[in-house]
Amino acid sequence: MDGQELLRCERIAVSLAFEAGLMMKSASGRNKEISEKDSFADLVTETDKAIEKFLFTELKRQFPDFRFIGEETSAGVGLTVDPTWIVDPIDGTMNFVHTFPFTCVSIGLTVNKVPVVGVVYSPFLSKLYTARKGWGAYCNGQPLSVHKSCKSLNEALLLCEFGNQRDEEKRNAVFRNLEAVGWLSHSVRCVGSAALNLCCVADGSADAYWEFGLHVWDMAAGSLILTEAGGVVMDTKGGPLDIMSRRVLGACNRNIADELGRALPIHLELERD
Ligand code: IPD
Ligand code: CA
Ligand code: CA
Ligand code: CA
Repeated sequence: MDGQELLRCERIAVSLAFEAGLMMKSASGRNKEISEKDSFADLVTETDKAIEKFLFTELKRQFPDFRFIGEETSAGVGLTVDPTWIVDPIDGTMNFVHTFPFTCVSIGLTVNKVPVVGVVYSPFLSKLYTARKGWGAYCNGQPLSVHKSCKSLNEALLLCEFGNQRDEEKRNAVFRNLEAVGWLSHSVRCVGSAALNLCCVADGSADAYWEFGLHVWDMAAGSLILTEAGGVVMDTKGGPLDIMSRRVLGACNRNIADELGRALPIHLELERD
């Protein structure tokens, strides 16, 4: 796919993200249908479903040959080398339900299983993050850069997540990891959106983020935005990121990434997407 095609993909993804943002804003605080998925903390609203349907319809219309993976309709579909739109209609559904503003729509495009376009739009924070592979990352049109001067965990603001699962293995991993690295850092925040966490490291407002249990639609777009902003995304144990692996470590630089990876005592191996 050449530069012009990538640019067209990004422009269409941005316009669809704005439409999705309007749908989120008009439904905020007025969700009639909220259901539980795998646990009482894993929710889906009618708006998640409506936005995914809208994005699927529009992307299929404009890119009939591309594949599509969306959280609410095609979990478990598998990633191929074909161009694939990977969509999270609302990242931060729990926040959306509670009207806590850290929610976004995330639209990524992969080719050969590698993210090449990433668009993350948060309508309540009025932030549009975009990236194309090799062309840098932007927030509201301004070039993004990670926090370059952060040298070690003891001067880093970290992000992590509780996630949506409520089983013992997950609980043990979340709290043991938090206990191990929380005290070594400036502090830890859990704001409830994996995609925005990656974008916060990209824009320098946080220094690193780790999570076990997230999915490909949580990280396809955000991982590109972070690498294009000059940051590092990797497996929690230090190898290259596998976006189907259900785990991620993103950081403003390699030192912080390696230090955080080494400091985490538990590295969950979860069933792949
Ligand atoms: C979730 C959010 C949350 C993260 C979970 C994700 P959803 O996405 O990103 O912050 O901890 O792993 O599943 O369900 O709100 O789209
Ligand atoms: Ca969800
Ligand atoms: Ca998500
Ligand atoms: Ca979602």
